Amino acid sequence: MASAASPSFSLGNETLKVPLALFALNRRRLCERLKKNVAVEPGSAVLLQGGEETQRYCTDTGVIFRQESFFHWAFGVLEPGCYGVINVDTGKSTLFVPRLPPSYATWMGKIHSKEHFKEKYAVDAVQYTDEIASILTSQNPSVLLTLRGVNTDSGSVCREASFEGISNRVFKTDMELEVLRYTNRISSEAHREVMKAVKVGMKEYEMESLFQHYCYSRGGMRHNSYTCICCSGENASVLHYGHAGAPNDRTIQDGDMCLFDMGGEYHCFASDITCSFPANGKFTEDQKAIYEAVLRSCRAVMSTMKPGVWWPDMHRLADRIHLEELARIGILQGSVDAMVEVHLGAVFMPHGLGHLLGLDVHDVGGYPEGVERIDEPGLRSLRTARHLEPGMVLTVEPGIYFIDHLLDQALADPAQACFFNREVLQRFRGFGGVRIEEDVVVTESGIELLTCVPRTVEEIEACMAGSDKAFTPFSGPK
Ligand code: GLY
Ligand code: MN
Ligand code: MN
Repeated sequence: MASAASPSFSLGNETLKVPLALFALNRRRLCERLKKNVAVEPGSAVLLQGGEETQRYCTDTGVIFRQESFFHWAFGVLEPGCYGVINVDTGKSTLFVPRLPPSYATWMGKIHSKEHFKEKYAVDAVQYTDEIASILTSQNPSVLLTLRGVNTDSGSVCREASFEGISNRVFKTDMELEVLRYTNRISSEAHREVMKAVKVGMKEYEMESLFQHYCYSRGGMRHNSYTCICCSGENASVLHYGHAGAPNDRTIQDGDMCLFDMGGEYHCFASDITCSFPANGKFTEDQKAIYEAVLRSCRAVMSTMKPGVWWPDMHRLADRIHLEELARIGILQGSVDAMVEVHLGAVFMPHGLGHLLGLDVHDVGGYPEGVERIDEPGLRSLRTARHLEPGMVLTVEPGIYFIDHLLDQALADPAQACFFNREVLQRFRGFGGVRIEEDVVVTESGIELLTCVPRTVEEIEACMAGSDKAFTPFSGPK
């Protein structure tokens, strides 16, 4: 797996090689930030705890392990039960691995030496976790910075390091961006496979299965970044459909819109992509109108994004475009400014426009100190209210949904009801919804689009008809 020349992780075949230098750089960034921005005392150390393996309830059935994201960010270690210590002055890293019992070799496989882990993860030293307390006591750091408040018995001072760690995770390095480009490329290909395969009469879960098979077999992605959301018809108005209570089990019907929100994960890096398209491969006029309304807002946002832009302004921009389009279609009537005043946009898009993406699908760092959540319909669901800066990775995921209880609420409120044409609205009851979700990196001058799926009506219809013709990913205003 790791070669001596430039040690990296990969799963062979065509899968991406993730350089271990990615994690060494993150450790250096963490130390630099702690020294510069936070002015920690000389002699400080950071202690991070990795994730632990869990069992299914009281059984001995293991749940497939996925590393804790902060630990992964700093060490890139895939096994459970580990800790890591970083000396802030020297940057020296020590990985602590569990000392495994001899029975492990019988049931689970080879027990690897400390040297094996030192080479596999390119750290400065490897020790056993049962030695943490004594080793820390002998090193005697002046301050022990932790994320999780672990009592090491060392007598050292523990201080939360969460703010510093989170800030670093918001800005992706070039090596991290390479992995996110990969997760997006494979997941985009998988979405295209799904679009070509979908047929009226199939179950939603068949599409989930196909997506997962593609991601794992072609991309080495054992995990998804989140539970697949595979909606057809009215289910597309359920924002987080697909969970155990609504497990992608409907039969796809002729005339349905599909809304498939699925993303594969590689070496703990996420992707988060939504494609919306007609189940039978051909848009009706109403489907086209709603779809193109969302496409317009998505592209307007992507064309406006650049450093300095305030993310809530992008949410408002999307809302306004949706209202303009809904008025053009005839569902709404009256002044768009007046609709904005009464937050009508949130009736059709109750979720936030997008969120930070990285190791976690809803990545950390959206509300650092000094950034406040905006307590207004729709905007309060935003997972970040930051100003954009280069190196941030976000989703852009506007949507228009016809959610019965929200529509009924709006119709019962005279301040909002006056804008509705009830007759036209009735035609869209049961429509479900449309979401278009792209993953983008903020660059010095705008964005780089990571996702690569058919987006225009023509591109989607061609793809669903089996065409492998290349399409042009959106590249901003000409
Ligand atoms: N897939 C969850 C989301 O779009 O945020
Ligand atoms: Mn998302
Ligand atoms: Mn999503």
